[in-house]
Amino acid sequence: MVTLIAPSLLAADFGNLERDCKMVNASKADWFHIDVMDGVFVPNISFGMPVLKSIASHAQKPLDVHLMIVEPERYIDTFAALGSDLLTVHYEASTHLMRTLQSIKEKGMKAGVALNPHTPVELLEPIINEIDLVCLMSVNPGFGGQSFIESTYKKVTKLKSIIEKEGASTWIEIDGGVTDQNASKLMECGANVLVAGSFVFASEDPIKTIEVLKNIS
Ligand code: DX5
Ligand code: ZN
Repeated sequence: MVTLIAPSLLAADFGNLERDCKMVNASKADWFHIDVMDGVFVPNISFGMPVLKSIASHAQKPLDVHLMIVEPERYIDTFAALGSDLLTVHYEASTHLMRTLQSIKEKGMKAGVALNPHTPVELLEPIINEIDLVCLMSVNPGFGGQSFIESTYKKVTKLKSIIEKEGASTWIEIDGGVTDQNASKLMECGANVLVAGSFVFASEDPIKTIEVLKNIS
């Protein structure tokens, strides 16, 4: 199975957002990964609707929107209208998760669930068939540029076996600290989508760096 690469625009130069979106368009990246943070669910505020609107106007690839906000169900319609293709909410932030996933899908988007590093993958087993993508956080969410948490590999393997056991077609996305050093092992364990922020945007040649990640897959 091919692994998809989703550069995280959190690490882009916000003064040159159009330029950085065009770079992703021209690269071998598959999706745009967009991190929305509210300063409550995570100790950081990233950006909101006007910035997403601007990204959407330049992006020519699917928008993978990762909501790090409390009660994400309040904004499903808004993110659908802004052009999100995939909307991921945190397990820890949505009390009625199954209803939230159904609402996301009713709006024509793919539905994702993100898990913080301490949240066991087994919790998703009862509803795995409802989930298009599980985003495993491989850092504590809130900031780019952190180090990859090694125990993520075990979570990928466990999640993969749950997906297979339940006959689901859920994708596994890894978010945080992804580099060329951990990409191939993550794929071997069963990851399908790799998010990379600082590894891509802080590199000398982001297009080449995306290609390096893509070629590992
Ligand atoms: C962290 C965000 C990530 C972040 C990844 O809370 O969800 O998407 O941008 O950045 P890197 O790849 O630098 O860890
Ligand atoms: Zn993210």
